[in-house]
Amino acid sequence: MNLILLGPPGAGKGTQARRLQDNHGLIQLSTGDMLRAAVAEGTEIGKQAKAVMDRGDLVSDDILIGMISERIDQDDCKNGFILDGFPRTTAQAEALDGMLRDKGLHLAKVVELAVDEEALVDRITGRYTCANCGQGYHDSFQKPSVDGVCDNCGATEFKRRADDNEEAVRTRMQAYRAQTAPILPYYRDKGILSEVDGMADIDEVTKQIEAVIS
Ligand code: AP5
Ligand code: MG
Ligand code: ZN
Repeated sequence: MNLILLGPPGAGKGTQARRLQDNHGLIQLSTGDMLRAAVAEGTEIGKQAKAVMDRGDLVSDDILIGMISERIDQDDCKNGFILDGFPRTTAQAEALDGMLRDKGLHLAKVVELAVDEEALVDRITGRYTCANCGQGYHDSFQKPSVDGVCDNCGATEFKRRADDNEEAVRTRMQAYRAQTAPILPYYRDKGILSEVDGMADIDEVTKQIEAVIS
C-alpha cells in the first residue's frame, strides 16, 4: 500500500508516518529528512538546499522529483511506502503520477491532516528528535517517559531543526498555502483524498488514519 500524508508544517506528518511504518511495515519517505541528511553529509544537493531550507522556502522540483524516484526504486519500498512531505507542488504531484505509472505502482490514499495553523507554531517550536534514532518528541505534548532518555532506543542526545524558529515557520506555512494546498483538489478529483482531524491528540489521529486505510 502506497500513501501520501499531506498537511502544513507541524501537522503531524512525520509523527504519523513513523507509526504507520511501525504498525504496517510501510517505509516512511520523508523528503525533509532526506534533504537534512544531504545537508549533514555535505553533498552537492545538500549544499544547494541548505540556505533555502533554513529560510523555509521550497527546494527545486527537479531535485525532489529525482530524489523520490530513486528512493522508490530501492528494495525496501516493495511492501509500500508513505510519502511524508512530497509532493508539495503541482509539478511534483504530476511527476509522481508519471513515475508511479512507469514503475507499475498505485497510490491507495492521500490523507490530509487538517489543522489550525495558529496551534502549529507551538508544536514546531517545542519539537525535538532523538539524535540516534530520529524518534520525535515535544516539550509539552510528547515527552519521553524518562526525562532525557529516548523511549525507543535509550539514547540521551537530542536535536532541534535549524528551520524550527518562528520566522522560518511562517515562511513554511506561506509556502504550504501558496504551493501545496492547491494540489488537494487534484487528489479530491481522483477520489482518493480523505481528511482526518489533525488537531485531535496523537493516538486519535492514528485511529482516524487507520480507519481511512483499512
Ligand atoms: P519537512 O521536513 O517536510 O517539514 P514540514 O513540512 O515543514 O513539516 P514538519 O516536519 O515541520 O512537520 P510534520 O507535519 O512532520 O510534524 P511532526 O510530526 O514533526 O520539510 C522541511 C523543508 O525541506 C521544507 O521547508 C523545504 O525547504 C524542504 N522540502 C522538503 N520536502 C520538499 C519538497 N517535496 N519540495 C520542496 N522542498 C521540500 O509534528 C510536529 C510536532 O508536533 C512534534 O513535536 C510532535 O510531537 C507534535 N505533534 C504531532 N502531532 C500532534 C498532535 N496531534 N497533537 C499534539 N502534538 C502533536
Ligand atoms: Mg516532518
Ligand atoms: Zn532514539
